[in-house]
Amino acid sequence: MSLIKWRTGYNTGVEEFDLEHQKIVQLLNEMFRVVRDKLDPAKVEDVIEALIAYSQKHFAAEERAMAEACCPELDEHRREHGKLIQSVSAYRQRLEAGDQKVAGELYLFLREWLLHHIMETDRKYAAYLLPGKEES
Ligand SMILES: [Fe+2]
Repeated sequence: MSLIKWRTGYNTGVEEFDLEHQKIVQLLNEMFRVVRDKLDPAKVEDVIEALIAYSQKHFAAEERAMAEACCPELDEHRREHGKLIQSVSAYRQRLEAGDQKVAGELYLFLREWLLHHIMETDRKYAAYLLPGKEES
């Protein structure tokens, strides 16, 4: 397992969200480091909190933009975001209960989920948010 390197293939073409996705990847890499280096649990929790807070803000911004663009994928997309938040809350409860190995599991889960979500689901909104572009 290593740090995630941003690839151009992760870009949706919607600049605002591509920049936010890069920030999410940075936060994931930060989480990777604190978990790998077995830093103080309080530090691990801080990084996880920052990642969750940023992701929630980002999800809300995506949903707002999709609603404004009348994107037909909005409901399904919103459901995916909601499911992620639910899953993360379950991991967090275990973490707060003192189960330290959950941080590593959560990292793997988030890495897999976010990269898949960015490349599959987020890609679909580009056609609606980028003027003049048709979905290919
Ligand atoms: Fe999304």
